[in-house]
Amino acid sequence: MPTEETAKSAATGDGSVAATGEDSLTVTDNRTGRRYELPIESETIKAMDLRQIKVHEDDFGMMAYDPAYTNTASCTSAITYIDGDAGVLQHRGIPIERLCEKSTYLEVAYLLVFGELPTRPQLEDWTYDITHHTFVHEDIKKFLTGFRYDAHPMGMLLATTGALSTFYPDAKKLEDPVERYLATIRLIAKIPTLAAFSYRHNSGLPYAYPDNDLSYSENFLSMMFKMTETKYEPDPRVARALDVLFILHADHEQNCSTSAVRSVGSSGADPYSAVAAGIAALYGPLHGGANEAVLKMLRHIEKVENVPDFLESVKRKEEKLMGFGHRVYKNHDPRAQVIKDHAGDVFEATEYNPLIEIATELERHALEEEYFVSRKLFPNVDFYSGVIYEALKIPPDMFTAIFAIPRTSGWISQWLEMTAEPGGKIARPRQIYTGAIDAEYEPIADRSGGNTISGPPATRPGA
Ligand code: CMC
Repeated sequence: MPTEETAKSAATGDGSVAATGEDSLTVTDNRTGRRYELPIESETIKAMDLRQIKVHEDDFGMMAYDPAYTNTASCTSAITYIDGDAGVLQHRGIPIERLCEKSTYLEVAYLLVFGELPTRPQLEDWTYDITHHTFVHEDIKKFLTGFRYDAHPMGMLLATTGALSTFYPDAKKLEDPVERYLATIRLIAKIPTLAAFSYRHNSGLPYAYPDNDLSYSENFLSMMFKMTETKYEPDPRVARALDVLFILHADHEQNCSTSAVRSVGSSGADPYSAVAAGIAALYGPLHGGANEAVLKMLRHIEKVENVPDFLESVKRKEEKLMGFGHRVYKNHDPRAQVIKDHAGDVFEATEYNPLIEIATELERHALEEEYFVSRKLFPNVDFYSGVIYEALKIPPDMFTAIFAIPRTSGWISQWLEMTAEPGGKIARPRQIYTGAIDAEYEPIADRSGGNTISGPPATRPGA
């Protein structure tokens, strides 16, 4: 029988529905013939409203099965709006194109965190605070030195970001507004330093300390590339392109890494640990690794003359066109449109690179061919970010770490929003249990040992 707590639901138990509101969904359970009226809000029903649907009074009740959250809203949020069909991306309601044209990354980070664009004095204070928290404790350097020379930068970034929680234990005071602010600026300020230090560790170069005279993106370039010069002066076209890339990657609503941040944050963990979880999720090739795959593809194509053959093999489905297509954007990726022009500026400012020529040729051919046009396979933001990083001679291993830099402002904004919500609960999905129940306990001497781990085979080495 339906429970009484469900405010608007009104199954009568005899097959009729007591009241039908306009904003409701009527569900008939064919097992019992009962009908239920589930309230609809924002084109969504509450999964908990399904729980009243039972055959017997003591049943658990109906659940929704959605393993990859493909059709489940896990939160409400006022940070980022995406309309995939229309190719729209907005932060706090402002189109990404406007932000890239008018703002700096730090201004956009402020917008994400506080919900509105800063006044001039607010931006000055924010920039000052971030600029003056870019240094990391010297012990972090010792920590990095412990990694092998070829450690993946994302592994180092993940570990050192998690380690920040041990340097700032007061960040555990989640309700303290000063600690919340400090964690926010420390994370945004220190992630570029940690990412650049990881690169220098890989390259066997001395760490280059932050330079407070430079802008956020200039300072990152300086920490990456500064050698013997007393002051590193990045090309303004390169610094602006990087700043625009940072704006474009700042937030993308409830993607895999942001959901990881929210999920870990929902347990009451400190923000450094929650953001480290986001970095761990971004590390995966299905999320942050696509631009790295673009470079592998361009190297595999090898020369411009091979582009038509490569595209033929894509059509035969033997290859994938990395950096093309998108799950959400089905007409165009608004971020790709914006970065395209800046990519041209970067190629002008950097040395000739044959891979860039291959990329340009690939894009030209693909945009002309019916196969790709009809499947809406246009270059996405990762195509251009990959070729820009390549032009800057950044090794592909670093690409995802650079993605993590701007996404930190998105992660911390989502964490702030979530932890400010009254009555927040720990994230705890349900499961559909498919294993045995009340199984016999076999004594060890009687066990046959033929068990396998479910999923792809896992075999003990040497077995
Ligand atoms: N190369 C070749 N064919 C493709 C590609 C591609 N990159 N993407 C889709 N297709 C084909 C696919 O084979 C299918 O063809 P058909 O109708 O003949 O079977 C058709 O296009 C529709 O594809 P789909 O599988 O429905 O597309 P999807 O929405 O499931 O996949 C995607 C989206 C991003 C996973 C896919 O396009 C892809 O793997 N792209 C390459 C990887 C990449 O660049 N990822 C980064 C995305 S941007 C990062 C971000 O926003 O965080």
